[in-house]
Amino acid sequence: MKILVTGGAGYIGSHMVRTLGEQGHEVVVYDNLSTGHRESVLYGRLVVGDTADTAALDHLFGAEGFDAVAHFAASIVVEESVREPLKYYRNNFCNAVNLISACLEHHVDKFIFSSTAAVYGIPSENPVTEKSALSPINPYGASKAMVEQALRDVSGVSSLRYVALRYFNVAGADALSRIGQKYKDATHLITLSLKTALGLRPQLSIFGTDYNTPDGTCIRDYIHVDDLIDAHVLALGHLASGGGSKVYNCGYGSGYSVKEVVGAVRRVTGIDFRAAETGRREGDPPALVADSALIKKELGWKPSRNDLDFIIRTAWEWEQKLQKC
Ligand code: UFG
Repeated sequence: MKILVTGGAGYIGSHMVRTLGEQGHEVVVYDNLSTGHRESVLYGRLVVGDTADTAALDHLFGAEGFDAVAHFAASIVVEESVREPLKYYRNNFCNAVNLISACLEHHVDKFIFSSTAAVYGIPSENPVTEKSALSPINPYGASKAMVEQALRDVSGVSSLRYVALRYFNVAGADALSRIGQKYKDATHLITLSLKTALGLRPQLSIFGTDYNTPDGTCIRDYIHVDDLIDAHVLALGHLASGGGSKVYNCGYGSGYSVKEVVGAVRRVTGIDFRAAETGRREGDPPALVADSALIKKELGWKPSRNDLDFIIRTAWEWEQKLQKC
């Protein structure tokens, strides 16, 4: 297939591009390089552009004739979304609408959407299933839930079919350390812990120890980026073989607290870095753990990297490589 990957120079998108390229698909990456990197695009062609630019999208779609779109380009920092909500509604919602419009205009009927566990807000039960109510508690989650709604509505009145994958906490890196997370201002727990272990930061802050969880810190379901990419490949195959629109959780169903993750990073790196307990970070739900039975049953997803130490090890190898570059 010929596939457009928006955000394909970013962390998760670049892993998708790598896998699609390895499988022999033709890939066009569309990325404004605001947080992505040219050198992360291992296969295909990179077109530098913005999903806000509807004329550029129209030109691109007209010139290329895509079979499918995988839409990764987005702003992703929960805390920033609380401070700058309009950035998130523009980048994540308005620009997704631009892309969906281009699909309709140019008869592209297969769409993979990067959604998030943040659409659930504070779920009434964990693990959370896709049937749980959507009740985001920050603009990031709200902007993604709005795109899901737009896809649902548009697919009801057009030939567009989509799979929205609700990512839980994606971490880890390519097995050969060719690509990985590389943000100018990292915010994610595992990345910041590793940077602290490397001595690039004086200490890690543990945001909140008074949550209603066994050790008082937040619980998340950490999933290796390559298991997530396997889910995308299955979703693409599902749409390519005529399957209908679907929404799936992507996580392992096991949660780790912030303190457990810090302990695991110390264990894997062998470095006893400093972690200080501080106040809560705005917009954080206490616990988010996936029930991913549906994607396993319907698409045959078989995650094979459900091992926190392995996830951290791949991220650690990547972080060490970044320091040498
Ligand atoms: N945390 C710390 N210290 C840090 C960084 C994070 O204690 O320096 C804590 C957070 O407060 C949270 C947990 O570690 O409790 C995980 O935080 P991350 O920033 O790593 O990830 P989030 O859970 O905030 O968000 C991530 C993705 C979102 C996605 C969400 C779904 O960034 O896109 O997972 O669970 F929606």
